[in-house]
Parts: sequence; structure tokens; C-alpha cells
Amino acid sequence: MAAPPTIAILGGTGPAGMGLALRWARAGENIIIGSRDARRAQEAAEKIRSKAGDGAQVSGMENSAACAAADLLVLTVPFEGQAALLKQLKPAIRPGSVLIDATVALAASVGGRASRTLGVWQGSAAQQAAELVHQGVSVVAAFHNLSAELLNGDEYLDCDVIVCSDDSKASERTRLLAAKIPGVRAIDGGKLENARILEQITALLIGLNIRHKGHGGMRITGLPPEAYQ
Ligand SMILES: NC(=O)c1ccc[n+]([C@@H]2O[C@H](COP(=O)([O-])OP(=O)(O)OC[C@H]3O[C@@H](n4cnc5c(N)ncnc54)[C@H](OP(=O)(O)O)[C@@H]3O)[C@@H](O)[C@H]2O)c1
Repeated sequence: MAAPPTIAILGGTGPAGMGLALRWARAGENIIIGSRDARRAQEAAEKIRSKAGDGAQVSGMENSAACAAADLLVLTVPFEGQAALLKQLKPAIRPGSVLIDATVALAASVGGRASRTLGVWQGSAAQQAAELVHQGVSVVAAFHNLSAELLNGDEYLDCDVIVCSDDSKASERTRLLAAKIPGVRAIDGGKLENARILEQITALLIGLNIRHKGHGGMRITGLPPEAYQ
């Protein structure tokens, strides 16, 4: 049987990246945690391996080494670091790679509220990412609306993941990956420009979580069964 493709999570030492890594490691995926510091990445990988259980394939590397070792990349860094990191990683990202961006341009990045977003000239953080990578790299927006707190636990996630991209194959690949998280249904959300709506929903969910003291997610109802992966 062919080995599963490697997924590199850039900025994977934070709660969002570690939560995704945990869920995918449990599903048998081969994960690299990326960090600005290789040692921090290795420590995070060790934590995930110990939680994910026997046989979990998780390693840690500096971000550019992680890009060179995988063609499926997930970006989980705060908005204030996104552009500079992508400029730095551009030469290391392999042509033909898929870059899944989960960045949300929260106003907290500039000292504002986490329940508000910033205006991004390109329309969204994901569209900004698309401008910063080589043309042969497909950018996908996904996973903005999953709570890291829940991802890092053991429970079934009662959430849908809407996936937006201008590359339908990259979108499908991402939906298959999303559906490996127990409880998650993945939905094709159309073009990358719709990422601006996904990112706004995160700010709304953060506000709801503060108001109601919970870990809210989102379900889309009423679509035909084939719309859900
Ligand atoms: N937390 C959630 O529930 C959640 C859910 C969905 C989406 N998101 C989005 O996912 C992203 C990550 O969220 P998070 O809560 O995991 O963030 P975080 O803990 O603030 O950051 C994640 C990692 O990014 C790296 N990083 C931090 N500042 C950086 C910079 N200036 N340049 C390059 N790398 C930097 C750090 O890794 P190293 O120091 O090891 O390099 C850090 O561990 C954010 O854009 C967030 O809006 C979060």
C-alpha cells in the first residue's frame, strides 16, 4: 500500500496547528509540524505523538524544511506573521503544492478585538496568501471555523468545514482531508474570494464564544446529501 502523502503544518506549534495535526495523525496521516525553530517543532511533534497514540507519524522541522518535504501545506500562523512568513518560504514551496490557509485577519493582530476582523486589501488573508506564492501553488481557504480547543480534545466535532479555492482539485483534496476529522463534514464553498466570508464567520464565532462561554462551530443544513463530503 502506498504511504499517505505528507502534510506539513506551518506554524504548527500553536493550538490550531497542533489540533489539526492531532486529528490527522489519529486518522493515519503522515504529519510534519513546521516552526520557525526546529527544536520547538520537534517538541510539539513529540506532544502530538504521545496524545495520538501508537503508530502516529508526526515529526518536527523548521518551516522551510517542512515545505521542501511535502506538497500539502497547511498555514496556521497569526495574521501579523502571515505575509512575512510566506515571502520567506516562497523559494522552499514546491511547484504544484497545495497551500491550505486557515489564517484569520483578526483585529487582535493590531491590538483590537478578536471578535472583529481587519480589512485586507486583497479581500481576505487567503487571497493575500495567493498573491504571495508562486503561480503554480494552489491556495485553498479552510478550517477557519473549527475551534482549536475542540480539535485538541478527544470528542467528535459537531462542525462543518467550508472549503474555498479557485482550483477544484485542490479543493477536493482539502475536503477529503477535512472529512478525516471525526464529526466534520466538508462542503465545497466555491471560489477563493469567498474566504472573506469564512474569515468573518470566525470573528462572529469568537464573539459568540465570549458571550455564551462555549466553543461554537457551524453546521450548514438543507443541501443535498452529495454536497457533504
Ligand atoms: N485558535 C483557533 O481556535 C483557530 C481556529 C481557526 C483558525 N485559527 C487561525 O489559525 C491561525 C493560528 O491560530 P493559533 O491560535 O494556533 O495561533 P498562534 O498560537 O498565535 O500561532 C501559531 C504559531 O504561529 C507561529 N507564529 C507566531 N507568530 C508568528 C510570526 N510573526 N511569524 C511566523 N510565525 C509565527 C508560532 O510558531 P513558532 O513560534 O513555533 O514558529 C505559533 O506557535 C490564526 O491565523 C488564527 O486566526 C485559529
